[in-house]
Amino acid sequence: MTEARIAVLGAGGFLGSHLVRGMLERFDCAIDAVDVDFEKLDVSSARLRKWRGRVEDASVLDAVTAQADVVLSLTALCNPAQYSTIPLEVIDANFTHLLPVVKRCAERKIRLIHFSTAEVYGLQAVGLDGLPTREMSEDSSCLQLGPIHKERWSYACAKQLLERVIWAYGEHHGLSFTLIRPFNTIGPRMDFLPGVDGEGTPRVLACFMNQLLRGAPLQLVGGGTQKRAFMDVRDMTEAVCRVIERRRACERQILNLGNPRNLVSIAELARMLASAFAEIAPDAAPATFQTVSAADFYGLGYDDTAERVPDVRKARQLLGWEPAHSMQAMLPGIVADYVARYRERVASPASQAARSA
Ligand code: UGA
Repeated sequence: MTEARIAVLGAGGFLGSHLVRGMLERFDCAIDAVDVDFEKLDVSSARLRKWRGRVEDASVLDAVTAQADVVLSLTALCNPAQYSTIPLEVIDANFTHLLPVVKRCAERKIRLIHFSTAEVYGLQAVGLDGLPTREMSEDSSCLQLGPIHKERWSYACAKQLLERVIWAYGEHHGLSFTLIRPFNTIGPRMDFLPGVDGEGTPRVLACFMNQLLRGAPLQLVGGGTQKRAFMDVRDMTEAVCRVIERRRACERQILNLGNPRNLVSIAELARMLASAFAEIAPDAAPATFQTVSAADFYGLGYDDTAERVPDVRKARQLLGWEPAHSMQAMLPGIVADYVARYRERVASPASQAARSA
């Protein structure tokens, strides 16, 4: 394994930037990192080659799979605000553009580790008998998406269909694969701040950090009673390294990776981030909170999961892994990273102008 060549598609994103660092430390592998920009991956190593390009460019895919033993596929459009505003781009990025990746891995006998999403479980945890359960389980939960006019589910549907394609290539054409369903993984370098290094609405962590840094009210969609189980990206990196190491155990398996012990409401997350921020930036204005409707915040095509809790028994068993970081342990470091990276940029006149435009 240590001699392996790993192609990481989407290496410059939040997860990719952590996983590439983790794999370089842990293995003697060579990494072909593919992305459109590498701002978050400011690492250099003789074992790391950066390919600036898009995964849907056939020549890029051809080149990076020419020698790969493993493909780690991470590219996605994965912010809920995009699902109902640019659903066709979301479906292309999460399905159409990745079909050639799956086919190429099958043809070239490359192991595929594909990042799907916890969103495939849909509205709520439901067992095979159709009754609600507490946790979402890889092999015994039904996948319950909302109606078509709720475009929120365009992403989950595209991701689910790609899972089914990968599964079929495994069952019928010998593809070696592992599917990973991440549950609300957070850490430094997640997403972007609107008006600074991106436009639109990022996921909740970056939304709240943006509001804290700007002294604006934290917006609680529907009052923030919905719950998520947040996992530290370091726990994700450890688990993915073990997936790479334990090929046989993970062969043709779907794995939830998340931390069920860190289940909190979005309102609680807001309060926890606000108090970590107050510790790190005691001179900043005290945080305020504001309830907003989902329709006002995301538009009418939005829908939501009230509670998303992973069943991680399979990951524990196959990987000998346990997510280690509590909310209290991870939030101060994450908040400190946002403050260090963004505080000055948020205060710049250009950023202020972008916000008020
Ligand atoms: C998203 C993606 O859709 C998943 O693919 C991904 O796996 C997951 O994030 C993740 O981070 O792992 P979701 O948890 O719904 O799913 O997205 P977030 O943007 O993180 O929102 C979490 C909750 O916070 C939602 O209920 C949302 O309505 C709420 N929210 C978001 C607020 O209350 N205020 C905000 O400013 C932003």
